[in-house]
Amino acid sequence: MTALDTNARIAVIGAGAMGAGIALVAAQAGHSVLLLDNRPGAAAQAIEGIDRQLGKRVENGKLSAESRSATVARLQAVQDIEALDDCALIIEAIVENLEVKRALFRQLENICDERCILASNTSSLSITSIAAQLRHPQRLLGLHFFNPAPVMALVEIVSGLASDPGLAECLYDTANAWGKKPVHTRSTPGFIVNRVARPFYAESLRLLQESVAECATLDALMREAGGFAMGAFELTDLIGHDVNYAVTCSVFDAYYGDTRFLPSLIQKELVEAGRLGRKSGQGFYCYAEGAQRPQPTSLGSERTVTSCVIEGDLGIANGLILRLHEQGVEVIKRDGSGLLRVGDAVLALSDGRMACQRAKEEGLRNLVLLDLAGDYAKATRLAISCAADIEPAALADGVALLQRAGFTVSRLSDSPALAVLRTVAMLANEGADVLLQGVASAADIDLAMRAGVNYPQGPLAWADSIGLAHILKVLEHLHASYGEERYRPSLLLRRRVAEGRTLHDPS
Ligand code: NAI
Repeated sequence: MTALDTNARIAVIGAGAMGAGIALVAAQAGHSVLLLDNRPGAAAQAIEGIDRQLGKRVENGKLSAESRSATVARLQAVQDIEALDDCALIIEAIVENLEVKRALFRQLENICDERCILASNTSSLSITSIAAQLRHPQRLLGLHFFNPAPVMALVEIVSGLASDPGLAECLYDTANAWGKKPVHTRSTPGFIVNRVARPFYAESLRLLQESVAECATLDALMREAGGFAMGAFELTDLIGHDVNYAVTCSVFDAYYGDTRFLPSLIQKELVEAGRLGRKSGQGFYCYAEGAQRPQPTSLGSERTVTSCVIEGDLGIANGLILRLHEQGVEVIKRDGSGLLRVGDAVLALSDGRMACQRAKEEGLRNLVLLDLAGDYAKATRLAISCAADIEPAALADGVALLQRAGFTVSRLSDSPALAVLRTVAMLANEGADVLLQGVASAADIDLAMRAGVNYPQGPLAWADSIGLAHILKVLEHLHASYGEERYRPSLLLRRRVAEGRTLHDPS
């Protein structure tokens, strides 16, 4: 099936933040769009708002005056639901309440042609459940846009148990024609993005709770080492803790309390205190006028290093060696198991064990563990951890070497898998379960995380490039250290490692 023709009339019900944005997307794509809201005047106000918004783009030279007026002319506010009788697609973006949505779709079934596709923008309710009481449940699907809809490229096309696969293809093609990046997903709690993204918040919150580092340091690591646009604390301050905590709780409950999704007491406390983030002026950070943003902690070293020894291969961290070469550091190569020696220090990429544990198990004195960087050739900051009994001079040598390579170094307290590595391993683990359970394809999972939440890499491709055996080892060590189900590795990871295949290999 192909995309809906631009002659097809679209309706959007609910003229709030999402509904207005979706109506604009459809109108810009050339459709005539009816906008309806049960609050009198709300739909007309939303269209006025869109007109003002487009007016600013005209002023900035980003849109022609003709496009603005043509787009606005395609939008029409309606008061009466009967006016939607000749629409080809009706997208609902009303209050997030199952019974209210069900009642609306039942009412629509009595008004619309049988060929009309019904879509819900719900982010947390089951499409199967919303459709269950309809006469034609096969024509109801999820069409999940991200906020703000005109800006965010991702649209999750969500199929419930009864949804017609042909209609899912039609919505997919239509979203494509609207300039979006659609992905297919089955209706399971959180769909793709709101499920796979949970560890991004959860692991930083846990590190904070365990006093591994302060918010500003962890946020800086996610940006400057991980390559994420924002760290978890600045991002949840932006999203609003009430919203982010509610999503986490809803996913946790929907999976019958699976501790993978355990909400954080720290975030709960912020919500209880009314510290909702930017919108309330205080979250993890203070947004009052003149408030100073705390700086990440960094560890400096005055020592001078001119050479180091690399034993074996650092694998994904080899970009570090290139940087040392560029800085004129002599790098002596020997056989070995992926260790970097400088002075009395031994540097190694974390495998998920704490430094104290690995130092003891492998008989390595003065071990400095390195965190993951999204790109070791480009990252500007890197986290390290070491056992409490490391000799200060050895630590200073290790830090000096990393500084020579151009990294700002942040020392974390000795915790399994540091910060970026544990986060990426857990994102990949959740993505692997989504794939294992047939909720979405590997390509769609990665696309969803890049286009929906701007991750620098899709978590599955990221894990493939790190090496699945390494990711599995990291998760097994996290699992063993905490003894918690939360860190259990996905069966699919184990299987693919045993088969010697990647997550992107066809199943
Ligand atoms: P909102 O509160 O800004 O807007 C909802 C609008 O629906 C209001 O104007 C309200 O008057 C209207 N409404 C409520 N019940 C109605 C009914 N029975 N008939 C007609 N109009 C009705 O909410 P928002 O944020 O736009 O969310 C709408 C939907 O989109 C929800 O299902 C939400 O879960 C989902 N969503 C929200 C996202 C967000 O970031 N805000 C992101 C993706 C999905």
